[in-house]
Amino acid sequence: MLSGNKRLAGNFRYFFLFVLWLTSVAFGQLPRHIIAPHAGVACAEINAARVGIQILQQGGNAMDAMIAVGFAMAVTYPRAGNIGGGGFILYRDARTGKVSAFDFREVAPAAARYDMYWRADGTPDPQKSRLGALAVGVPGTVRGLALAHKRFGTFSWERLLQPAIELARYGFVVDSFLYRSLENRRERFQQFPESFRIFFPNGQPPRPGTLFIQKDLAITLEQIAREGPDAFYTGEIAAKIVEGLKKHGGIISLDDLRNYRAKEREPIKFTYRGYTIYSMPPPSSGGLTLQGILKTLETFPLHQFEHNGADYMALVSEVEKQWYAKRNLYLGDPDFVKIPFHLFSSPEVIHQIASRIDPRRPVNSREMPEYNQIRQQESTHTTHISIVDAHGNAAAMTYTLNGSYGSFLVAGGTGILFNNEMDDFSTRPGHPNMYGLVQGWANAIEPGKRMLSSMTPTIVVRDDQLVGVLGTPGGSTIITSVLQVLLNKIDFHMPLSQAVEKGRFHQQWIPDSIAYEKDRFDPDVLQELQRRGFGLMPYSKIGDIQAIWKTDAGWEISSDPRRSGYPIGY
Ligand code: DON
Repeated sequence: MLSGNKRLAGNFRYFFLFVLWLTSVAFGQLPRHIIAPHAGVACAEINAARVGIQILQQGGNAMDAMIAVGFAMAVTYPRAGNIGGGGFILYRDARTGKVSAFDFREVAPAAARYDMYWRADGTPDPQKSRLGALAVGVPGTVRGLALAHKRFGTFSWERLLQPAIELARYGFVVDSFLYRSLENRRERFQQFPESFRIFFPNGQPPRPGTLFIQKDLAITLEQIAREGPDAFYTGEIAAKIVEGLKKHGGIISLDDLRNYRAKEREPIKFTYRGYTIYSMPPPSSGGLTLQGILKTLETFPLHQFEHNGADYMALVSEVEKQWYAKRNLYLGDPDFVKIPFHLFSSPEVIHQIASRIDPRRPVNSREMPEYNQIRQQESTHTTHISIVDAHGNAAAMTYTLNGSYGSFLVAGGTGILFNNEMDDFSTRPGHPNMYGLVQGWANAIEPGKRMLSSMTPTIVVRDDQLVGVLGTPGGSTIITSVLQVLLNKIDFHMPLSQAVEKGRFHQQWIPDSIAYEKDRFDPDVLQELQRRGFGLMPYSKIGDIQAIWKTDAGWEISSDPRRSGYPIGY
């Protein structure tokens, strides 16, 4: 009997390896860039992309598809897809041409204090702001998707949640990305028994090629479908969340959940070489920082530079440095701090910055005035989804738990994985956060305040026609990744596939070096930069762009080959 079982196990192992091989072959053949005549979805997980396309083909608009994909990814892409986190949506209504921005960023609980993560010696304790219940900001995703649905949805709320419920209840086929990413984080999951039970059934992550079922999450999603967002913020789920987090030392209260509001805001809008760019306003720093950088670069004849050559990298990174310093010093939640919007569009400031740039030698970050006023690398995850429907409506959503799997905490029998977004605040002004960002008091912790984000969902329009939709994860590198795809398209006229695949670099003021993707840059260029005194920091990969761009044949749709997504269109 025993040996029979063993044989069965042996055969099963071969079968499993066969399925694994088959899956990887099948996935290997799927293209990362496609052309679709009518509509399409670019996102980081294929089951969710399928959900989006089905909604579009059934006659739903881009917002319907976005809501369905958003809920589906909370099931199929748990490292960043979520209902326990927050994010931003930008939506362009083709009928009116108006672009709307939805802010469902998490907020600090009422009991949060600016020094809540400080050790006795005054330095911030990153463990506390990154792992477990104290790291959790009051989640915004469910209210955000509900607000977006109320404004632009055409299908019923229940119908849009149905695919996610089915994926959670009946399972979906796991790929090797999910398997490996869970296995790599075994130790952190082990600290939270409820999370470990869900993501390591039988002590192992679900194997590639097998089904992954999430029963608790299915029940939670069914309640949200039936009762609407109030189930999450005032109903039974709220009670379970508060109770569950409290057991782990959390401080989120029923009042925090009840008081949470998603907000519609005025998007950041500016022109760049004849294109109109729409992006996210504070509490994301994305739109304003992108605006400052692009308006400064607009004063240079960029197309005359060698793409990713030494002069180009020096110029772009020096401009980035100047605007990240302003970002880090001035930006925060607009409901708490006064945002100097004019600074990011003022021709005088832009001229002043442009005239200070010298590609032959870097400015020393620590000698910039912002430094005195303020006085890792672990793979993290957020995710972006771009959708265009057959009517030309466009939706761009970036949402996140912050780090991969957020706080690693699932609590209260809800099946919900909670964010660790509190680390996006300056947990101690002047000290670096998870992304090495050194930020000021404008982004210090206050009860009910939104932590500053870099998420940059972006929509591009020309002559009142939709041209592009894009965004990416990557923490502080989000803004510069979106920037480079825009430059590659607008200044260098690359097809989207190339614009996405080109090597990326990034400068965020502090640290005072250019981060660049290993093996994607000419060693002579890097050497030349070093000779000029630029610091260099190799990274394995920067970003996971999900983008759609207009072409003569319809839409070019790209899911960044750096990670796990495959685009779908029709
Ligand atoms: O809002 C932000 O800027 C961060 N929480 C985003 C995190 C992120 O992109 C992680 N992904 N790689």
